[in-house]
Amino acid sequence: MTNAMELSQRAQGVPASPTLAITARVKELKAAGEDIIGFGAGEPDFGTPEVICDAAVESIRSGQTRYAPTPGTPEAREAIARKLRDQNGIACEATDIIINNGAKFTVYLALQALVNTGQTVLLPTPAWVSYKPMIQLAGGVVREIPAGPDSDFKMTPEQLEAAIDSDVRAIILNSPSNPCGTTYSGAEIRELAEVLSRYPHVAVIADEIYEQLTYEDEPYLSIGSLPEMADRTVTINGLSKTFAMTGWRIGYACAPGDGGSVIKAMTRMQSQMTSSITSFLMSSIPAALERAGGEVQQMRQTFAERAELIHGLIKSWGEVTCPRPTGAFYVFPDISCTFGRTSAGGVAINSAMDFAGALLDEAGVAVVPGEGFLGCGVNHVRMSFACSEDDIREGCRRIQDWLAKLA
Ligand SMILES: Cc1ncc(COP(=O)(O)O)c(C=O)c1O
Repeated sequence: MTNAMELSQRAQGVPASPTLAITARVKELKAAGEDIIGFGAGEPDFGTPEVICDAAVESIRSGQTRYAPTPGTPEAREAIARKLRDQNGIACEATDIIINNGAKFTVYLALQALVNTGQTVLLPTPAWVSYKPMIQLAGGVVREIPAGPDSDFKMTPEQLEAAIDSDVRAIILNSPSNPCGTTYSGAEIRELAEVLSRYPHVAVIADEIYEQLTYEDEPYLSIGSLPEMADRTVTINGLSKTFAMTGWRIGYACAPGDGGSVIKAMTRMQSQMTSSITSFLMSSIPAALERAGGEVQQMRQTFAERAELIHGLIKSWGEVTCPRPTGAFYVFPDISCTFGRTSAGGVAINSAMDFAGALLDEAGVAVVPGEGFLGCGVNHVRMSFACSEDDIREGCRRIQDWLAKLA
């Protein structure tokens, strides 16, 4: 007989998010008075722009506190559709949009809508920690497409083609990438689309949450804007990263293909799960997308300067190598040159996990070990530069000193 509280196999199989765990640990240590520099958190250190807060406060005061339509209010959906048409070139209408509780839940729902048990989902790696558990929760089988620093962590069209067979249902494409901080160019997206166009059974889940945070001159290309991909791409985005709104939990998906069948399915599922996002946050969506452009540009510029700063500092660490970040707010240095050595505190460093643990304990610097990101992530740590320039300088100085003392 089973214990009444025995967990389902599904629940037992889900690991906790290692990045959120690091963020929580840093908060705990800081609260206990420890002098910690945190490169762990994947969230902007800025406040949400006032115009967005005002819209939400106004909504709550004017009594918009009842249940909202499941996929979002018509105004909020229209604002998103307009943004995707005007900025991303994606042909869509308000009815092609669903608004969800964060882009994380949006990816989860998209997978639930598309993937049957046993079907394969292609996952270019290193990849964001949540994709694999989410694919598995949908009953899918993960097939990794590993890329390394030599290709800026980007899969080639040849690798993509070699990974596709009749079992493949979907691919997750995340550019700019968490954790790598690198971005597919428009030409690279077109080459991948050319391959995918020959396999019409493969849907694309394009996680574009960092799309506004790119540091190259080249305009961003959404794969869903290409005519050959339009019918089978679910474009996912949200307000968390671009507008410094991580705690608001607002994400969205756009899928104009097949008469909107995926959005309708996601809406049906959401109606049985969360109903909708918080009703009085709906008005913050047009406010963010249409009235916070100046603040977004400022934050983007600051991230661009920090990207250059942290990359320059890491390059001075000798053997540690690190591709230049071109998007998001992450750098992903290869720290495998430290494996086989011992820290000043006596810890044998044989993995990214050992490196991150000893660095936190001995130098008071938090980074995310790369194991959870899969692929060659095992040789890397992720450092978020969503923190002040002073923290970047001080944290990098501590790491350099700590590295110099390795035996
Ligand atoms: C690649 C990627 N997708 C989605 C998300 C989730 O964003 P949200 O806060 O909207 O759930 C994150 C957050 O870390 C992310 O890095």
